[in-house]
Amino acid sequence: MAEHLTWGILGAGRIAGVFARGLAQSRTGKLLAIGSRCEEKAQAFGQEFGAPRCYGSYPELLADGDVQAVYIATPHPQHAQWAIAAAQAGKGILCEKPITLDLAGAQAVVQAARRNNVFLMEAFMYRCHPQTAKLVELLRGGAIGQVRLIRASFGFHAPFNAEGRLFAKALGGGAILDVGCYCVSAARLIAGVAAGRDFAEPLEIKASGHLGSTGVDEWALASLKFPGDILAQLATSISLTQDNQLSVFGSEGQITLPWPWAPAREGGQARILLKRDGEQQAQEIVVATDEYLYGLEADAVAAGWEDKQAAPPAMTWEDTLGNMRVLDAWRREIGVMYESLEGSGRA
Ligand SMILES: NC(=O)c1ccc[n+]([C@@H]2O[C@H](COP(=O)([O-])OP(=O)(O)OC[C@H]3O[C@@H](n4cnc5c(N)ncnc54)[C@H](OP(=O)(O)O)[C@@H]3O)[C@@H](O)[C@H]2O)c1
Repeated sequence: MAEHLTWGILGAGRIAGVFARGLAQSRTGKLLAIGSRCEEKAQAFGQEFGAPRCYGSYPELLADGDVQAVYIATPHPQHAQWAIAAAQAGKGILCEKPITLDLAGAQAVVQAARRNNVFLMEAFMYRCHPQTAKLVELLRGGAIGQVRLIRASFGFHAPFNAEGRLFAKALGGGAILDVGCYCVSAARLIAGVAAGRDFAEPLEIKASGHLGSTGVDEWALASLKFPGDILAQLATSISLTQDNQLSVFGSEGQITLPWPWAPAREGGQARILLKRDGEQQAQEIVVATDEYLYGLEADAVAAGWEDKQAAPPAMTWEDTLGNMRVLDAWRREIGVMYESLEGSGRA
C-alpha cells in the first residue's frame, strides 16, 4: 500500500481529463505532470486540470524522477510502447484498456513490468467500483443459484469519422477493442467467480460481426462457453447504441446491472436488480459511494503498489492476459486485422 502517489499522464486527450478529475478526488493520488506530443496542449491541460509540470513530449515526463505512477491515455496502438518505456523508467503503470492491440503485446508489457519490478494495471475502472464488488459478493453468496448464462452489451453510436480513433485502423479502431473488451472482462469475471476463482477462460468462442468501410468492426457479437457449461452472449458496437446492461441468469434467479461499465463517475448511487425465481418483483440493491470512479481506480493502484498488481476484482496481470487472448480470438473470428501488427506475424 502506498499512502500517496504522484502521478503523470501521457496523452492530453478526452479520457485523460476525466481521469485527472477523478484523481483530484482520490484518497492517495496527486497529479504532478502532463505529457503531450504538443507543448501548448500540455500547458492548456496543466492549467485546466492543475498539473504543475507540463511536458511537450512523453520521454520528458518519464525522465521526471518525482513522477511515481503514470496513466497511459493514448490510443491503443501506442499503449505498448509507452507502457514498456514507463516500466524501464521505473514508473508504476495504469494503462488504458485494451492494454495493447493483442496478446503478444500484452505479454511484452507484463514482462517489462516484471523485469523492472513496477506496478501495472489495465484500466478497467468498473472493476474498482463497489458495484462490481457487490456483484461478486452476490454471486459468491449464491443469490441466484448456479450461474448458467451471462449477457453483456456495450455499444454506442459515434458519428462516422474515418480518421478518428474509433474508426481508423491505424489507431486501433473497432468496437471489440474499444468496448467489447468490457463485455469479455465481465463474462470472464462472472464465470470465474461462479467457479470459486477470480476469473475463468472460455473453452469456445464463436463470433460474427460487421466490418465497415475502414475495415474495423462496427458491430459484433460473440458467444463464449466456459467450463461448467456457463455461456455468455456479448454484443458490442461503435455505430449503434445498445442497452449497455449486464445480466447474469442462474438456476434460481437473475441479476441485472442496468449501468455496469461506468457507474457513478462522480460518486453517487449504482443499482443492482436481483430477481429470485418465484418473486414478483426484482429487489433493488443500491450501492452508494461518494468517491469518484476514476479516483477509486487511482486508489486501487496505490493499494496494490507494493504487490505490483491490484487485488481482484481489479485487473491482475493474468486476468489482463486472459482478456487479450479472448479479444484476439474474437477479432480473428470476424477478420479484423491491424497493419501495425503485420510483419510481426500477428496481424
Ligand atoms: N476507461 C475509460 O473510461 C475510457 C474511456 C475512453 C477511452 N478510454 C481509452 O483511453 C484511450 C484514449 O482514448 P480517448 O478517447 O481519450 O482518445 P483521444 O481523446 O483521442 O486522446 C488520445 C490522446 O493520445 C495522444 N496520442 C498519442 N499518440 C497519438 C496518435 N498517434 N494519434 C492520436 N493521438 C495520440 C494524444 O495526446 P497528445 O496529443 O496530448 O499527445 C491524444 O489526445 C484509448 O485506449 C481508450 O480505449 C478509456
